[in-house]
Amino acid sequence: MYFDFFKLNSIFQQPSLLTMESTDKIREINTRRGAPVKILFIGDVSGTVGQKMVHDYLPQLRQVYKPQVIILNGENAAEGRGITEKIYKEFLTQGVDCITMGNHTWDNYDLFNFIEEATHIIRPANYENNDLIPGVGMRIIKINKQKIAVINLTGRSYMGSFDDPFRVGDELIAQAKKETNQIFIDFHAEATSEKQAAGWYFDGKASAVVGTHTHVQTNDARILPKGTAYQTDVGMTGFYNGILGMEKEAIIENFRTQMPTRFTTPESGSGQLNACLVETDDKTGQAKKIQPIRIDEDTLFMD
Ligand SMILES: [Fe+2]
Repeated sequence: MYFDFFKLNSIFQQPSLLTMESTDKIREINTRRGAPVKILFIGDVSGTVGQKMVHDYLPQLRQVYKPQVIILNGENAAEGRGITEKIYKEFLTQGVDCITMGNHTWDNYDLFNFIEEATHIIRPANYENNDLIPGVGMRIIKINKQKIAVINLTGRSYMGSFDDPFRVGDELIAQAKKETNQIFIDFHAEATSEKQAAGWYFDGKASAVVGTHTHVQTNDARILPKGTAYQTDVGMTGFYNGILGMEKEAIIENFRTQMPTRFTTPESGSGQLNACLVETDDKTGQAKKIQPIRIDEDTLFMD
């Protein structure tokens, strides 16, 4: 895996920034001058059940909240590990503008085959030797005359070896500010303290810092004093009656015996969708509102 990975890296030459455009009727209505910019972010989509939840509920979410921009974290979309081109294209068909990733970015080898052409996907920006890694860590989405920069960073506590996400975040924000004040950060990290540190550090610099990776929605969404929307973890989208989207039996067995077991995402079953809606000032980029969204069999979606 590592041998192939680095061998492959050497053939890629990476642009650090790409711009892409999206248009459709719903978004056009909502990009009037002075109207807030509405960004819908869907937390870690896990396995087949997570994909089905996006398929079943995204049309209703679009109808009700009318977001101009839809972002989702897709690093667990392919059976909990990485993403395939087929899944990536299905998300785009459903109206997703940008897909963020995380520590599982490279778990499905298929990504190596299409990331260079995949203009709607970003992987963590703070790899060590970032210039040698396929893909980019920031994209600027253009919706009519509005631009939204989306940045993907990974924490370092219990996450393996990554470069400083705070410094890299500063660099990317400076780059993005040349084009837009709308800056959305998916901070993919294990430690709640590191995610809070990111929220406070980027307060007033980014429109939103939302956490992913721990898969459980936190009840702490707020606007920080300098105008950044923050939530420690948006929560995951996938199997509801399991553990972090996986079948629970193998995980319980693992905790009980400390022996290795195989973690799997089920092919079917009851689902949950966790997301948040962020509204920002269309000129300053300052967050006006952050609203957590939770859909599951105990929290039905009422439109
Ligand atoms: Fe993760």
